[in-house]
Amino acid sequence: MKVTFPEGFLWGAATSGIQSEGGFEKSNPSIWELWYDKEPERFYQQIPCDVVCDTYHRYEEDARLMAEIGMNSFRTSIQWGRLIKNLETNEVDEKAVEFYNNYIDALLDQGVEPILGLYHFDMPAVLQETYGGFESKEVVEKFAQYAKICFELFGDRVKKWSTFNEPIVPVEGGYLYDFHYPNKKDARLAVLVSYNTILAHAKAVHAYREVGCSGEIGVVLNLTPSYTCDDQPQNKLAAYYADLFFNRSFLDPMVKGEFPQDLVDILKAANVLPTTTAEEMTTIKTATIDFMGVNYYVPRRVRARTTVYDLDYFTPEMFFEYYIEENARFNPFRDNNEIKPVAIYDIAQNIKENYGNIKWYLSEIGIAMDVVSEGAVQADGLIDDSFRIALLEEHLVELSKAISEGANCFGVHNWTFIDCWSWINSFKRRYGFYRLDLETQERQMKKSGVWHRELAKNNGFIYEG
Ligand code: FCB
Repeated sequence: MKVTFPEGFLWGAATSGIQSEGGFEKSNPSIWELWYDKEPERFYQQIPCDVVCDTYHRYEEDARLMAEIGMNSFRTSIQWGRLIKNLETNEVDEKAVEFYNNYIDALLDQGVEPILGLYHFDMPAVLQETYGGFESKEVVEKFAQYAKICFELFGDRVKKWSTFNEPIVPVEGGYLYDFHYPNKKDARLAVLVSYNTILAHAKAVHAYREVGCSGEIGVVLNLTPSYTCDDQPQNKLAAYYADLFFNRSFLDPMVKGEFPQDLVDILKAANVLPTTTAEEMTTIKTATIDFMGVNYYVPRRVRARTTVYDLDYFTPEMFFEYYIEENARFNPFRDNNEIKPVAIYDIAQNIKENYGNIKWYLSEIGIAMDVVSEGAVQADGLIDDSFRIALLEEHLVELSKAISEGANCFGVHNWTFIDCWSWINSFKRRYGFYRLDLETQERQMKKSGVWHRELAKNNGFIYEG
């Protein structure tokens, strides 16, 4: 079967600044360096984000490697703590400006369109420790100012911007489930940080319009669909709640400018709603975005609670519980996570039917493997990640079907380009088109790189699965 995509489709990969650049010459460490200093044992094999892919020095080589595998676009993010030298006065770091300018130019020289994010989980440590990060309105203002500086400096060449990557994840990790700094478990703060992040996003969108750049601005959300076990109303309701908390909480305000009333009612009843003003609500309502990035990895399986909720603080799991669908398929290389390509089709339908068919791209799809399963370099000079290729194809089949039925999708980015550092998992899971040698930082192409070159060249592939 021939699987094709619309003309001008974006093909490429994504990473983030902190996961790839390395901390070289950075004026302000983020909460990740801070947390590592405090609790290195929380990080897989105790690997920090100090060197990672060394993109800070190797961006020219990397831009060439992108072109070699047919990438016509690439998303990364600016590190707030790198660009802004003084977070009180907003004085920029000239070395950082030079670096990002050179990096952007190197990409453009290779015909790779840069898509730049402003925030990828990397709160500057000093803003977290002084103000509580997005717990405070000061940091909301600082973020808007930083955004404006980025648009003024790079908006002439960068035509697609994303304010936040997966904004719900720092809330989950930092304020509910203890996998990001500041490791609090506090629903009131979780909701406050969510709200302030949405406000910061809205202010950045307004700043973009004010600067008058000619490109587009959006946000990258992880829209994990919720599936349940049967048609029983209580189980369907559980899926509805999971969707409300984990998808619609950010999707509705950021795309439609409004908060879902059911969510507001629940949070009010739980006494965790923050104080808001009419002016803030207008700022959010009027911050229209041009496009959305959607990240998808694994589905969410939920049903009505069969056990008593036993945490002593509020979390969304009061309204459902997770379960494992025995008949599903699983990825043995990623903690047996479920594989469900049709979720891509379901996400596309949801955007089409409920979110005005806003323009979007698949900003992250990634198939995790560990380095042992990927194996050594083969006789043909490549690393054999055929497992990854087969799964990527299956997901793309679903996307292509959705597009043929009217989904407004303009591209696909793999997570990731070169194996990069992944938060507390450091390098446990590999996702790249290129392997990273952690000793030498050498890049080694995988079969998926060759596959991607053909995919991009043909704007599609022959599916034999
Ligand atoms: C996503 C994040 C990204 C990366 C992948 C594996 O949730 O956006 O930074 O860590 O997971």
